[in-house]
This record gives sequence, structure tokens and C-alpha cells, in this order.
Amino acid sequence: MKFFIDTANLAQIKEAQNMGVLDGVTTNPSLMAKEGIKGQDNILKHYVDICNIVTGDVSAEVIATDYEGIVREGETLVELHPQIVVKVPMIADGIKAIKYFTEKGIKTNCTLVFSAGQALLAAKAGATYVSPFIGRLDDVSTDGLSLIEDIRLIYDNYGYETQILAASVRHPMHIIECAKIGADVVTCPLNVIASLMKHPLTDNGLAQFLADAKK
Ligand code: G3P
Repeated sequence: MKFFIDTANLAQIKEAQNMGVLDGVTTNPSLMAKEGIKGQDNILKHYVDICNIVTGDVSAEVIATDYEGIVREGETLVELHPQIVVKVPMIADGIKAIKYFTEKGIKTNCTLVFSAGQALLAAKAGATYVSPFIGRLDDVSTDGLSLIEDIRLIYDNYGYETQILAASVRHPMHIIECAKIGADVVTCPLNVIASLMKHPLTDNGLAQFLADAKK
């Protein structure tokens, strides 16, 4: 399973990269705004800065919601760096644009996916990644992990190569369950990735070993 970090914070991206387990980055307009990145030139430069830190795919989201605008923005984004993946919302013009990008050999990430039907459409359009937001489904009393199970089943039934990128991942059990189901990628904040490491018996055991080593 691939691990992506879901942030536009360069320090956190560097830290995750230094951990040695990072496979890519996802961003969105909210995450860019959180870092105070404003203005088209600064936003584009920030994507390049991210690409220069990591070795894997970096999702950069379009703002346009009409077909021509999505295509125009996406083509500008992919010119920035070979690692850029165009992140496109799950709307009718978005699906049409994903089909266009797929035919041009441009990687895409279909975002804001909340149902199996949406994921099926994204795969039919040839999306490289589909991003079901599991935490936001949990927030409205709907089981986000069940959606990952449904998408896995559907994609396996038909051999769709679109990778399931579980997004809105909030805690370590989301990651473990996604791994059991067979999600291809999880994207989450640094603290959620780091939380996989923690176990009190590891800490206690290490403290004991270090104490004994001094004897
Ligand atoms: O990048 C999209 C997704 O991961 C957002 O997560 O926590 O804002 O629901 P969250």
C-alpha cells in the first residue's frame, strides 16, 4: 500500500519524506489556503517546491468547474513538473476532462468521491486515482470504510486499473482497515502516519533494554 501525505506544509512533507515511507503528496485548495499560499504564481511555485521534496506523485487540484477551464488549468499544472497529477472534482465536466486527460496520457485524481457509483464513473473515464473521503462520510454517520470495500469489489470485478486512494483518513485504524480491504493508497496528515509507530509496549520494552544494556 502506498502512503501519501495530505498537506501543503513543506516542513511536514520533508519530515514524512525523511521517514523513508512516503510515496506521494495530495493537496487541495483548503490545504493550500491553510499554508497561506495565495496568488496563481505562488501556488504554482509551491507545487514545484513540493515536487522537489518528494519522489512520487503530487496531486494539484483545479479550481475551474467547466470542461474548458479544467482542461486549461490541468494542462498548465502538468507543465510544471512530471510528478504532477491533475486533481479533478467528481462532476460531469470533471469526468469529461478526466477522459480527455487520460487520452493525452496525463495522470488524474478524481476527488470528492462519496459513492460507489461515482467511483465507477471515475474508473470508466480512466482516472489514475479515485479519492473516496472516508472521514467525511464517518462524520455524517455513514461508514466510510464500507465505501472502500464496495469500490474494491467493483474495480476487481471488471479489472479497472484506477487506484483507490483513501482520503480524509483521520486515525491509524482507518489505515489498518484500508490495508485489510486492499486500498491502493492512503493519504493522511503526518501525525496519522506517525501514529502507526506508537505502542506503549515498544516504549516500555526499549526503556528496559536500554536500562539493562548499562548493567
Ligand atoms: O485531500 C482531501 C481529504 O483528504 C480531506 O480530508 O480531513 O479535510 O476531510 P479532511
